[in-house]
Amino acid sequence: MQKRIFRIASNEGVARDTFRLVLRTEGTVAVRSGQFVDIALPGFYLRRPISVSDCLPDGVVLYYKVVGEGTRAMSEMAPGTELELLLPLGSGFHPEKCREHALLIGGGLGAAPLYLLAKELLAAGKQVTAVLGFNRADEICLAEELRALGVPVHIATMDGSVGTKGFVTDAIAANLVIPGSAPESRSAFDRFYTCGPLPMMKAVCTALDVPGEVSLEERMGCGAGFCYGCSIQTARGPKRVCVDGPVFDKEDVLW
Ligand SMILES: Cc1cc2nc3c(=O)[nH]c(=O)nc-3n(C[C@H](O)[C@H](O)[C@H](O)COP(=O)(O)OP(=O)(O)OC[C@H]3O[C@@H](n4cnc5c(N)ncnc54)[C@H](O)[C@@H]3O)c2cc1C
Ligand code: FES
Repeated sequence: MQKRIFRIASNEGVARDTFRLVLRTEGTVAVRSGQFVDIALPGFYLRRPISVSDCLPDGVVLYYKVVGEGTRAMSEMAPGTELELLLPLGSGFHPEKCREHALLIGGGLGAAPLYLLAKELLAAGKQVTAVLGFNRADEICLAEELRALGVPVHIATMDGSVGTKGFVTDAIAANLVIPGSAPESRSAFDRFYTCGPLPMMKAVCTALDVPGEVSLEERMGCGAGFCYGCSIQTARGPKRVCVDGPVFDKEDVLW
């Protein structure tokens, strides 16, 4: 883990209350999918944890939603502003555990870390399909970026304005071969990776009978394993989301 100064290269609104932040630094950056950064914001005591959506040779791309004072302050920061980041933090996803075909399932901005994961899976020669869920059309983000990588993307919206009306589980049932459900299930995915609201991830883990990984969010103090503020109970005992997670095997999560 390092503490490094980054400079804002761009900070643009891309969807409803949602911003894409590109940060660059001196020297090289190495982050794996599922890892996050912890951003120090001037005037705020606690850092803000944000998943890395893409890793550049000299920077990171983040997507964040304005939900409170800290993210509102971030949304008002101009290019050139310097920010101090802790990175890389947390365990990442495990793309190497996918045999052939991965299903990525994002809810809202849970799509963000799945973009870097898709790049890693494709680079390893795996087939990738994505299902993304949003409340409404103006919240959709990262779908076109994933399609630009060659990933088929199925959308679910709660209001039915785009794609399947309903939950990501409805879009999965409508568009994908569920493993074990049909003779042609050889073409089905053999592993899933999900990030988004807890009820969505619980529904996904219940519906899909293949191995899966879940990225959890928890309020954080130090972000680096010292304060135990992010401790949760898992099937393997108490774990700190910031260092033991945020990515956990689906069997480990006690819903
Ligand atoms: C591992 C991890 C990855 C995340 N990745 C993203 C991402 O890619 N994009 C994104 O928009 N958000 C992400 N979040 C959530 C993000 O950290 C919060 O939305 C953000 O900290 C809210 O700050 P605020 O000052 O605007 O809100 P406030 O509610 O004013 O924040 C008050 C305090 O609560 C903490 N907090 C509030 N909501 C959350 C939350 N959901 N999770 C953890 N801490 C929270 C804040 O960090 C701050 O310390 C992630 C959280 C975690 C733990
Ligand atoms: S936030 Fe301090 S141990 Fe996880």
